[in-house]
Amino acid sequence: MMKNTLTIAVSKGRILEECLPLLEQAGIRLLEDPGKTRKLILETSRADLKIIIVRATDVPTYVAYGAADLGVAGKDVLLEYGGDGLYEPLDLGIARCRMMLAGPAQATNGHGRLRIATKYVNTTRRYFADQGKQVELIKLYGSMELAPLLGLADRIVDLVDTGKTLKENGLTPLELITDISSRLIVNKAAMKMKHGIIKPLIDDLARTVAR
Ligand code: ATP
Ligand code: PRP
Repeated sequence: MMKNTLTIAVSKGRILEECLPLLEQAGIRLLEDPGKTRKLILETSRADLKIIIVRATDVPTYVAYGAADLGVAGKDVLLEYGGDGLYEPLDLGIARCRMMLAGPAQATNGHGRLRIATKYVNTTRRYFADQGKQVELIKLYGSMELAPLLGLADRIVDLVDTGKTLKENGLTPLELITDISSRLIVNKAAMKMKHGIIKPLIDDLARTVAR
């Protein structure tokens, strides 16, 4: 952790895309087009600030261990990660969607425990445990919508934006688990040791988000 430099972990795709305009309004531009370069460490117009490109689910890990000082992660990823060692000072309001329980329109409530396929096993377990329900969880890494169609699970827990993915696979949203957006996260030690450069950045971004 270099005292006078900042590293921000961001995932490629929708989060980076929606993040760039916010960073730009805070005076931070990428020096290279992220769509063209294969580099994973991107220099910015601020010599003391770098963006690193990691998988969305790895962002909390980089920040918790201090390999990155800050990061941008979906609330879904943060809920599932669960660990501490992270501050979450700002809702950036980007990559908005909902985490939902979904299933076939004519959901059959078979006997025994409900089988739920999801990549969010911890969050799903907690959601049902809070209602005093035990469910059987089947961990998947993608294409959750297939699981009920093929009899792998009764329901899924997945992210829903327009609802197109559910609809095209014959599924309906059943229960809202939580609203999702991306959050700025900060390593706890970095927040102390680099307060002088992190605090103004959070304030700049907060002003941008509020506009
Ligand atoms: P990984 O690369 O680790 O597999 P991923 O494929 O889920 O991650 P993205 O699809 O870019 O990565 O999603 C990143 C974040 O964007 C998610 O964690 C979630 O917070 C948000 N998100 C996902 N899908 C949508 C969507 N359809 N609409 C809006 N936001 C979304
Ligand atoms: C996300 C999510 C859903 C879909 C929901 O997938 O996992 O499948 O978006 O959006 P909708 O309600 O607008 O259809 P994404 O597009 O990120 O694909 P990926 O996770 O497979 O990369």
